[in-house]
Amino acid sequence: MAAEPEDTIGSPVRSYNEWDPLEEVIVGAVDGAHFPPYDAVTAAPLSPAQRAVFKERAGRPFPADEVAAARDELDQLVDILKNQGARVRRPEPRDHGRSYGAPGWSSTGLYDAMPRDLLLVVGDRIIEAPMAWRSRYFASSAYRSLLKEYFHGGARWSAGPRPELADDLYVEGWTDQPDGEPFRSVITEFEPTFDAADFMRCGRDIFVQRSHVTNMMGIEWVRREIGDEYQVHVVELADDHPMHIDASLMPLAPGKLLIHPDRVVEVPAQFKNWEVRRAPEPVIPDGHPLYMTSKWINMNILMVDETHMVVEAQDIPMRRLAESWGITPIPCPFRNFNSFGGSFHCATTDVRRRGELRSYI
Ligand code: ARG
Repeated sequence: MAAEPEDTIGSPVRSYNEWDPLEEVIVGAVDGAHFPPYDAVTAAPLSPAQRAVFKERAGRPFPADEVAAARDELDQLVDILKNQGARVRRPEPRDHGRSYGAPGWSSTGLYDAMPRDLLLVVGDRIIEAPMAWRSRYFASSAYRSLLKEYFHGGARWSAGPRPELADDLYVEGWTDQPDGEPFRSVITEFEPTFDAADFMRCGRDIFVQRSHVTNMMGIEWVRREIGDEYQVHVVELADDHPMHIDASLMPLAPGKLLIHPDRVVEVPAQFKNWEVRRAPEPVIPDGHPLYMTSKWINMNILMVDETHMVVEAQDIPMRRLAESWGITPIPCPFRNFNSFGGSFHCATTDVRRRGELRSYI
């Protein structure tokens, strides 16, 4: 029998989209989380108020009570995913206050809370992103033993070209683009960088945005790495501070696309036969700390399969939206975790979903 073009039978890594039945998933950890050193590339995706906090607390741990509350919510997510039949894997805890360096720079770390930002799974490939933040340079260390295990099991394991993160990667004297002007990234095309969370997978079609961490060289590297079986589409979104596409464009199931009401000015043409719905207004109260994201983290959900969605327990409007769309919401408290810069999609990497490579457009 001739081998399939992409013969993934037996690989422990195999996931083509955001909705096939979940079999194995990595869930992040907040332990040891620190505010990173303050620099332009870290500041760029943040709001002015968030920048002030990052500047003041640079290098210091996140508040211990907030870490504990978020850890508890992560543990609840783990239980939910196990009850849904998925195998759950966790990173190894690390102290992110330790410093490290390379010629020309030194840094301390951030956290291992968001495996989605680092690990890009495309079919039987698991790809380590060459991240633009110096504080995330060793992000993959937390997952190293898992990556080796997946490799032994038959997965394809690769990493983007190891970045130098030299000063030339960062735009000198960068400032925000004035209101209404085209996006002005804080990073240059000095070398390829990307975060995995700037990519969104829909079978043969993969959507990506340029952002404050993902440049065109990074996108081109992924395109060549994954080959002709996939089409990588660069989408234009109206996000003033873009970093990670998964609070803007969220495919829930074949034919069901959830969008941010303002950022998606034009739905990408590939979705023309899909039903498109706007995410409901977030219900996170104003006083609740969100160190790194907007309130639209409410749309950062995780599909367990085409008809089951993990949703924040207090987010009644999102639960209603799911129900009205034939999807059963599985509530999980996650508001304390949200403070750290993500929700269910960010906090996870779906390593294996039961399904095959196909086109949905
Ligand atoms: N930039 C998005 C927002 O502020 C949040 C995206 C978070 N995603 C992630 N994978 N960490 O609305």
